[in-house]
Parts: sequence; structure tokens; C-alpha cells
Amino acid sequence: MPATDSRPAHYTGLIDRYRERLPVTDATPVISLNEGDTPLIRLENIPRELGTDVDIFVKYEGLNPTASFKDRGMTMAVSKAAEEGARAIVCASTGNTSASAAAYAARAGMTAFVLIPEGKIPMGKLAQAIAHGAVVLQIKGNFDDGMRLVKEVAGEAPVAIVNSINPFRLQGQKTAAFEIVEALGRAPDYHCIPVGNAGNISGYWIGYSEACGHNTASCTLCHGQCPYLDNPLTDTRPVMVGYQADGAAPFMRDEPVLEPETLATAIRIGNPQSWDLAHAAVNESGGWFDEVSDDELLATQAMLARQEGVFCEPASAVSLCGALRDVRTGRIPAGSLVTCTLTGHGLKDPDIAIRGQRAVQTVNADLQSVKAAILAHI
Ligand code: F0G
Repeated sequence: MPATDSRPAHYTGLIDRYRERLPVTDATPVISLNEGDTPLIRLENIPRELGTDVDIFVKYEGLNPTASFKDRGMTMAVSKAAEEGARAIVCASTGNTSASAAAYAARAGMTAFVLIPEGKIPMGKLAQAIAHGAVVLQIKGNFDDGMRLVKEVAGEAPVAIVNSINPFRLQGQKTAAFEIVEALGRAPDYHCIPVGNAGNISGYWIGYSEACGHNTASCTLCHGQCPYLDNPLTDTRPVMVGYQADGAAPFMRDEPVLEPETLATAIRIGNPQSWDLAHAAVNESGGWFDEVSDDELLATQAMLARQEGVFCEPASAVSLCGALRDVRTGRIPAGSLVTCTLTGHGLKDPDIAIRGQRAVQTVNADLQSVKAAILAHI
């Protein structure tokens, strides 16, 4: 902000916060909705009930402006697109990228074109894209078909791709790792994360690597010019653990899944674009991939909401679901410090959250009835 600007100072988003760690210059117009700076919440009740001394934190990315982690990458992708003079952006999406692209395009005065799989987007995400004025193209195919089409159409029309194959997306997303290291005063021992198109796990690995002054083959932009090299925040990196839904788990099958299926629609992806980067993150860190069932991930989503007061979407619960299983089996050893990314807010998909839950009770509007209903639960 120029010195002559007398408006009150406030948090203005992650590009301003991490400017010297990001590939931006004074010529880059900052398109921001004050994303980032999300809470890192220590779980209290779940570990106690589990009887473990593993210290588990969740990074609640559902509290970004469009209620998912995508805003971190989108502020970078759209700012760089604006710098390059783009008038329109395009993405394929399972819903969150499209919501974020739509919002940041609105902020930038651009047009967003979003390709979504027909009938597989929760209402909250679709509402966001529509509300922000995106051109919504519902394709008769899945996310992987949309991704292929986006790459093809970008060669034929003046539109900038803002999916995570755009390296600026990962640069924005790496800042979540910086925030975690700053909040804890050290890197966690394990970082657990849901994996769909595999951009986020790759972004975190870049961030953790930079935070401890390591260069990593994963970093497609710094190429040995790691911005924290001379001034590291920490001297360790976490073991990276990526979890997938078992009906959409190409990293477990070691090949693309042609017809991915899961109720966690955000990660209903069979052909992840950041395949090599995600493998590098897991291999370089000594981590692993694993899978969880839809029943398991929904049970974890409900448990987190009921026992800790944190409401995330089904795909987000995959990280904690896998982490808790690995804590129980000892694969994540006693005494560890664990962080789990909760990628999106539960309100994105309210239908799934109330599925099979105790029904709402209807009572007469008189004291007697309300009192009786309360006492029945005490
Ligand atoms: N969790 C949520 C809530 C997501 O929306 C996504 C991806 C992921 C996890 C997986 O992250 O793709 O970086 O491995 N959603 C994309 C979208 C694909 O279009 O919104 P990833």
C-alpha cells in the first residue's frame, strides 16, 4: 500500500503477505479476496477418545473467501493472468475450482468459463459459480474429460487455464505450508491431505521444502532459487501422506481409473494431472498413499462436526479419516505432531451432511411441548 494511502491497514491476502516468496513483481496487479490466514485448530476430543498422545491439528481451509483452499492458488493464477492481459479464464472442475475461478474473475473484471461434470456438482458450489457470473458449461462427461477439453480449447480460444497445471496455482497453494510452520514454530512430523488432481499435495511439498531452505525437484518455478534458502523457518520437512477415496484412487492402482466413483465428488478424479509431482512429494518425504471408503470418510466428517465443532466437506474428511486410521495402527507413531488439511467447508454440500442423520423434530409452539422435547434429551 503506498505511503500516501491513509486508509486503515488490514490483512490483504497472501500475495501481499508472502510477496517476497512468490513470483510477483510491482507490475503484477494483485487480484485478492484476502484469502489465506486460515485457522490451524488442535483437535481435543477425538484424540482423547482415541487414547492417543498424537497431537493432531486441522488446517481449516473452508474458511477461505469461497470456502475452499482453491483461493490460494486462484489469487496467484488470476493475478498473473491479469498481468499478461488475459480477458478470460477457463477451468475444468469438480466444483471448488469453478467457484473460486468465478469469484476471482468477477473481482478482476474477467469472464470465467467453467466446465463441470453433469449432475456431479453439489448445489453450494454450483450456486457460487452462477452467483459470480461464470459461464457454466455442464459437460456430459467427468472431470477428466473436462480437463482434456480445457487443454484442447486453450489452444483454440483466448482463455488462460487456471487449473493446477498452471504453475502459479501451486505457488499460491504452497503458502498454506508457510502458515502451518509459522503457527507451530516448526514443521509437523506428518502432513495428511486428500488427493484428487494432486495439485495441493504438490503445492504443500514445495512450501514445506522452501520453508526449510531445501530445494526440491518438485518446484517448477524456483529452480534452485528457493526464497527461504538463506533464511529458513525450520530445519525439517514433514512426511507427506496422501489419501484418496477408494473408488477414485489412481495412486493406489498405480494407473488412471477410467470411471472414478465416490460420494466425495470433489475428488472424483481418475487421471490426476500432477501425477509426477505428487509421487515426488511422497517419495522425497518418505510418505505414502492410502485409500478410505465412502462410509469411512462420511463417518469422519460427521465425527469431526459433532465432536470438535468443525464442519468440512466429505472430500476434506479423507485426510483426517486416513490419519486416524494410521494413528490407530501405529503407522503414525505415538508422540507425533500431525497436521491434516481440511480442504473445503461442509456448507458446500449440505445434502450429504444431513443424509442419514437424526431427523429434525417438529413440536407444537407451546412451552409444554418444547420443554418435554428438551428434557427427553437430557
Ligand atoms: N478437497 C477438495 C474439497 C477439493 O475440491 C479438491 C479438488 C481436493 C480436495 C483435491 O485437491 O485436486 O489438488 O488434489 N478439487 C478440484 C476442483 C479438482 O475442481 O475443485 P487436488
